[in-house]
Amino acid sequence: MSKTHFHAHVAQNDAELKAAYQLRLNVFQLEQGYNEEHEFDTLDTIAAPFVLLDAQNAVQGVLRLLPYPLPIAADDFLPSDVVDKEILVGGGRTVLEMAEAFAAMQQVRQRTERGVILSGAKLGRLAISKQLRGQGCGSILVRAAEAWLAAALVKAPAAEKAQHVEAVVQLSSQVIAKAFYESLGYAPEGEVYLEEGQPHIRYTKRIQVRG
Ligand SMILES: CC(C)(COP(=O)(O)OP(=O)(O)OC[C@H]1O[C@@H](n2cnc3c(N)ncnc32)[C@H](O)[C@@H]1OP(=O)(O)O)[C@@H](O)C(=O)NCCC(=O)NCCS
Repeated sequence: MSKTHFHAHVAQNDAELKAAYQLRLNVFQLEQGYNEEHEFDTLDTIAAPFVLLDAQNAVQGVLRLLPYPLPIAADDFLPSDVVDKEILVGGGRTVLEMAEAFAAMQQVRQRTERGVILSGAKLGRLAISKQLRGQGCGSILVRAAEAWLAAALVKAPAAEKAQHVEAVVQLSSQVIAKAFYESLGYAPEGEVYLEEGQPHIRYTKRIQVRG
């Protein structure tokens, strides 16, 4: 399938959100062996959940974007059967409400001669269906999330008067995915550390919001 057959957006309904959660479990628990009781947490209630869809609108990729700094604790785990619940964790919000919440939570991370750099977002739980990897799907999904964030933050009160506005996207990458994030312009920061028993490294990228 060529790249033109895929598109990505914030999950628009419960069916997409449910498929996104199921894909997370398939990749991180069944394939990679992470603890399934640590897959979902209260951050899923405030995340913008992105999905990558194929030509038949089947969910083939997932990531979650969180406003940064994180407004709530990161380690409040939810049971993995959230996938089977009628009311899905994180469901029931419009995309506009999510964008407004991201804008409202922004802080100025740094002032520059030209304007401000906002605290931005944290990207995570990125996974592409195994049979579709290496075809550009991950890149489409990450770029869609960056573009959505840039558009959402134009209205951030913290950047109201600034002519030039940038925002930071940060993430904690499995060491095995380093080359992927570097191909998208992310720069490594600091030392390798263990997260859920696996080596990880922090990455950041500055995206342009205005100016
Ligand atoms: C990591 C992952 C999301 C990448 O998605 P993908 O669709 O396979 O990646 P893409 O095809 O968009 O690749 C984009 C670039 O990254 C490179 N890349 C992707 N995966 C790579 C890997 N494992 N090793 C080296 N380079 C890699 C590609 O070569 C490509 O470079 P190019 O544009 O110069 O050709 C996917 O492999 C995946 O779901 N892995 C399992 C879950 C996981 O580990 N998630 C990461 C959590 S931090």
